[in-house]
Amino acid sequence: MHIKKLTLSNFRNYENAVFNFQDGINILVGDNAQGKTNSAEAVFYLCTGYSPRASKDKQVIRYGEKQAKIAGICSSRFGELEVSIEFKQTKKDVFVNGVKLNKIGELMGNINSVFFNPGELKLIQQSPEDRRRFMDISLSQMDKKYFYTLQKYRKILEQRNDLLKSPDLDTVRETLPLWDRELANSAVEIIEKRKNFISNLEPYVLDYHQKITDGDDIELSLETPHYTGGGVEELITAYAERVEKDLILGYTTVGPHRDDIKIKVNGEDVRVYGSQGQQRTAALALKLGEVCVMKNAFSEYPVLILDDALSELDLGRRKRLIGLLSGFQTIITLTEIPEELASADAKIFKIEKGKIWCAD
Ligand SMILES: Nc1ncnc2c1ncn2[C@@H]1O[C@H](COP(=O)(O)OP(=O)(O)O)[C@@H](O)[C@H]1O
Ligand SMILES: [Mg+2]
Repeated sequence: MHIKKLTLSNFRNYENAVFNFQDGINILVGDNAQGKTNSAEAVFYLCTGYSPRASKDKQVIRYGEKQAKIAGICSSRFGELEVSIEFKQTKKDVFVNGVKLNKIGELMGNINSVFFNPGELKLIQQSPEDRRRFMDISLSQMDKKYFYTLQKYRKILEQRNDLLKSPDLDTVRETLPLWDRELANSAVEIIEKRKNFISNLEPYVLDYHQKITDGDDIELSLETPHYTGGGVEELITAYAERVEKDLILGYTTVGPHRDDIKIKVNGEDVRVYGSQGQQRTAALALKLGEVCVMKNAFSEYPVLILDDALSELDLGRRKRLIGLLSGFQTIITLTEIPEELASADAKIFKIEKGKIWCAD
């Protein structure tokens, strides 16, 4: 699959802009704060309906304007697809081939993408929340049921947490078991799908990691505290065992909202002991692995977006990485084009203050 054309209207610092992308490598080059990440963000929106940054939808509307629009024409297994998103102050509308979607979730799975930017280092360095987000975004694109189960789980969890904070303890103790079963049903589905995702992902991540680093090992596993795979009943028991603690804290301490991915490089926990370069490489290998898992799920490659991803890699790693970017569409943003990319068969877009210069 690839995006042929992307049109931005009053999106961030773009008034009107058109990108005619090629299948293969596209390079968006420009100084800082010119709009490179903004356009990468637009591509991701087109694929998922969401921003890869944790920003609010209305923040994408160009300063002083009332609404923004992005539109894309893509070539996919469904033939040619036209996707557009209109951002208003209070809502956004998503259209596929001119038909407005009832739910944003329906967009997932049409055009798929994998997004990487330096913030993605959080994936390795920071909280488990970022690693859960990685699994959730990827799984939601591949499996709509996962997306809806996750939404349902979050809703029930919020209600259970509200109940835990209620002062009427007798009612709380009586009502909790009812919530627990429902929560556990969604929880087990989420955990099992994440486990499956991680085991599908691992061999690809290992392969990419070894190729980029010239031989370093990497291992992945899903960590679910207080759960060993025993299904709904085990989780319900775990809730019951922790209910006193949960009542004091006012929130639920067991379940997939506590999951993490353990990542070991050459046997060491890279989350804790990895150098900056090792962490960056591990994050890139995770993302490239995700590209392959998606390819298997859809029988076509997603679009890979590498926003500012090469700048801190040493020359050897950078060269080996670029050598791996074939067979799918990649959109790369950079402040300067390194020599090893100049020789790749890439289409180059120069970005300056929300305007694009391209040879075609
Ligand atoms: N809603 C908006 N309206 C106009 N400009 C915006 C909006 N949101 C962000 N910007 C501008 O976009 C610029 C940053 O663009 P970005 O794509 O992140 O830069 P870079 O090229 O470094 O990746 C900043 O100058 C910021 O002020
Ligand atoms: Mg940027």
